[in-house]
Amino acid sequence: MPFTIAVVGTGYVGLVSGTCFAESGNQVLCVDVDPKKIEMLESGGIPIYEPGLDLLLERNIRERRIRFTLDLETSVLKSEIIFLCLPTPPGEDGSADLQYVLQVAHDIGQILQRNPDAGYKVIVDKSTVPAGTSELVRDTIRQQAPDAEFDVASNPEFLREGHAVEDCMRPERVVVGTSSPRARKVMMELYEPFVRSGNPIYMVSERSAEVAKYAANSFIAMRISFMNEMANFCEQVGADIDEIRVVIGSDSRIGKKYLFPGIGYGGSCFPKDVRAILKTATDHGAELELINAVERVNHKQGRLFFEKIMAHFDGKLQGVRFAAWGLAFKANTDDVRESPAFRVIDLLIEAGADVTAYDPEGMEGARQRYGDRIRYGAGMYETIRDANALVVLTEWNEFRNPDFQRLSDGMQGNVIFDGRNLFNGEDVAQRGFRYYSVGRPLQTGVEEG
Ligand SMILES: NC(=O)c1ccc[n+]([C@@H]2O[C@H](COP(=O)([O-])OP(=O)(O)OC[C@H]3O[C@@H](n4cnc5c(N)ncnc54)[C@H](O)[C@@H]3O)[C@@H](O)[C@H]2O)c1
Repeated sequence: MPFTIAVVGTGYVGLVSGTCFAESGNQVLCVDVDPKKIEMLESGGIPIYEPGLDLLLERNIRERRIRFTLDLETSVLKSEIIFLCLPTPPGEDGSADLQYVLQVAHDIGQILQRNPDAGYKVIVDKSTVPAGTSELVRDTIRQQAPDAEFDVASNPEFLREGHAVEDCMRPERVVVGTSSPRARKVMMELYEPFVRSGNPIYMVSERSAEVAKYAANSFIAMRISFMNEMANFCEQVGADIDEIRVVIGSDSRIGKKYLFPGIGYGGSCFPKDVRAILKTATDHGAELELINAVERVNHKQGRLFFEKIMAHFDGKLQGVRFAAWGLAFKANTDDVRESPAFRVIDLLIEAGADVTAYDPEGMEGARQRYGDRIRYGAGMYETIRDANALVVLTEWNEFRNPDFQRLSDGMQGNVIFDGRNLFNGEDVAQRGFRYYSVGRPLQTGVEEG
């Protein structure tokens, strides 16, 4: 039997999960507090860029399996399962800010108290939250509605922006943390269609589910920081990180994924989740030494890249014109939250440089952040016109194989700083560019006059 599901918070996670639940036959009510977002979705628009989401959403709107609303009360009352897909941004001390989650828990409690015949509900936390939050959510609802019939489950989301639809439709694993057999049964039934190929649904304790999400993100962040540190070391000793990467990646104990060095990890998850688990540890009198180091390495990485740029220009960036390719925190998303590209652009602006930037999807986010402090290119080649240098900051496919002749013709300078190692260094040098990348030897290109 299909479920009726309320998804509270229609952002990257809520919209994608809601659409995927609808795609598997459920009735989904996506709730948000942002009237513009709801209006846009109701009129067929999509507020985020996520490959494949448009087609899926269109189909489910047409089939009337998904709707968008500002009305939490009706959505809660109609639904058997209520997902919380709310922001958990970093507080000033790095902890996950639970105000949105707990506010909605409080509102749900009041709704259940006003409607004693509401029936049994499973309230599922999909937001990334510290250990113990499910209990807080349960207590918050219970305080408002002492007699309501409900259970709470933790169901951390592992989707990757840019691959979110695929990750949601065919998750490698589903994790459900709940102490309630009744909620467990509901969650098994809900997720069964998503794991037909045999991928597991792990039923664990609430706290384990909550910590599993932080452990996974910290581990991936650790791989990235490890490779960034190794790349910096390669530069010191004259080795090539690309060669190291393929050698160690072919070891099945290590694997090939997340071994690309660059300008540091970013986005709405890794930085905040790493900081949050560190804060939780401190609160519990523990110290996560390795994860502390992961953060420190990441913090340095953008600056080290910037220092290469500074050194090239003898520390004088005032008025130097930079074309920046890439603004989104990674390819295939419009998400610019904690984008490492911004860290580099911030430093360039601070040093008095003149930046013109282009990104296939991240322009709107950049405009909101920088306004007229930078210029915006209409495309890759429009951006490089008269630039003294090109900096590559996001690994979009369209940047990988540029027409170097057009770059030579359009740019005033002949230097490329590639923060994502997109090009073959020797190739670029042969075309007359001085080419800096990460963890690979400098390619000097033609003699500069
Ligand atoms: N973005 C990701 O790739 C990703 C992946 C896994 C887990 N997560 C986690 O999922 C959670 C949500 O992340 P996101 O990226 O989707 O956030 P988001 O900011 O894109 O979306 C959150 C949405 O919640 C809405 N909202 C805020 N208060 C509300 C309220 N009281 N009632 C209804 N809606 C409300 C906002 O308007 C927004 O649309 C976070 O905890 C995040 O760490 C994110």
